[in-house]
Amino acid sequence: MSSEVKKSGRLIKAPENFLTTQDAKAPALMRRKFLAASASTAAASLAALGLAAPKSALASVGEGDPNILNLPAHTTGLGMPVAANPYGMPSQYEKGLQRRESPGLTRVSAASVAFTPLQGTFGIITPSGLHFERHHQGWWDIDPSKHRLMVMGLVKNPKVYTMDDIMRLPSVSRIHFIECGANTAMEWGNVAVPTVQYSHGMVSCSEFTGVPLSVLLEDCGIDRKAARYVLAEGADGSSMTRTIALDRALDDVIVAYGMNGEMLRPENGYPLRLVVPGIQGVSWVKWLRRIEVGDMKWAAKDESIHYVDLMPGGLHRQYTGIQEAKSVITTPSGGQTLLDKGFYNISGLAWSGRGKIKRVDVSVDGGRNWRTARLETPILSKAFTRFNIDWVWNGGPAILQSRAQDETGYLQPKINQLRAVRGTRSIYHQNAIQSWRVAESGEVSNVQIY
Ligand code: MTE
Repeated sequence: MSSEVKKSGRLIKAPENFLTTQDAKAPALMRRKFLAASASTAAASLAALGLAAPKSALASVGEGDPNILNLPAHTTGLGMPVAANPYGMPSQYEKGLQRRESPGLTRVSAASVAFTPLQGTFGIITPSGLHFERHHQGWWDIDPSKHRLMVMGLVKNPKVYTMDDIMRLPSVSRIHFIECGANTAMEWGNVAVPTVQYSHGMVSCSEFTGVPLSVLLEDCGIDRKAARYVLAEGADGSSMTRTIALDRALDDVIVAYGMNGEMLRPENGYPLRLVVPGIQGVSWVKWLRRIEVGDMKWAAKDESIHYVDLMPGGLHRQYTGIQEAKSVITTPSGGQTLLDKGFYNISGLAWSGRGKIKRVDVSVDGGRNWRTARLETPILSKAFTRFNIDWVWNGGPAILQSRAQDETGYLQPKINQLRAVRGTRSIYHQNAIQSWRVAESGEVSNVQIY
């Protein structure tokens, strides 16, 4: 093993936020500020950490280290009492890891997005407090004792369920990703944002618990001959209504009340939401109050005006729900800085709306050569798969990329392959290979490689 492999590379995390409150109020300036800020904040973080001269930073480790020699209070004193925090919270040292709003996308915070900090999460489960949020008209904390779900339309016995009724039915728990169809949308034309939080953070992965929709439909006596579609409707003011094909509705769709072992968080649809594995987030209707069974698509506003794909010829595609295979390297990623040559663990996430991830390849030279990454278990259908691969940085420029393939054989496309079919005026379903450029200075930035 060479000495460079033995030496583990140190990395400065991306600044948690590139934006001041003032920047947040001026969306037009966002793109320019983002790019300019990423360079200067990296330098500032180096200085703030006293790491401008890497050798002196290492000097405090090992022999004579006061952190070893001086007994800290926690080894000699009494710790905090049990249940001091009846609901456990992250360490005070981790408070920078937060979901963050993109001021460039929306002007009204009730109709906005807060992105998951993918650069700082491990494994495949997104902590509930970091699950991304997307609301069309704000979120509500609805009293579960007053919440009702109506199932009607082409069924023999239309019913209204209380939460108690639903929670008494047979339940399942499944781990699935949810990705907003607009994730990575800002990158269709060119590089727009500096970090993986903003480029890819409209995706999260959780364990959801609830009743299979098929159980409710059977309970109401669905008319199997006439029924073709179901409509899901939310109880918020956004009139969120989405059509779901019946075969999918009877397959793996869940009417969920649980997320990561507890009730859903209000921002994510408490007390009831639809889970539609593999399909873009908009169909995962939150604060679910009505399921209607019908024989035609509804062409609701969020499937005829929004959530359509504008094609190069000017036509638009409707009902393109599936989130195709996609992956992204989360570390090293945009805004981070590599401090020394040597070993780095390249880590990332891959997912596919069509099933399991079969393979992820990683390139460090902009796609000329590829190596196959290790897929960490569990590898689940329509869920995040974590991948890792060893890399020894020689201090030269590098372009890091990951390319996912799912069990259907579908291969994640390059951005120019996607643009050749879809043009550049689309918003949704941008699943191109992401490139992170590592400069000789160690700074990592977002670039597009064709
Ligand atoms: N359901 C209702 N009722 N209202 C909404 O605004 N937003 C949708 C979907 N379900 C929305 C909704 C969109 S666009 C997405 S991407 C997901 O919820 C986001 O889910 P999350 O906020 O739990 O991440």
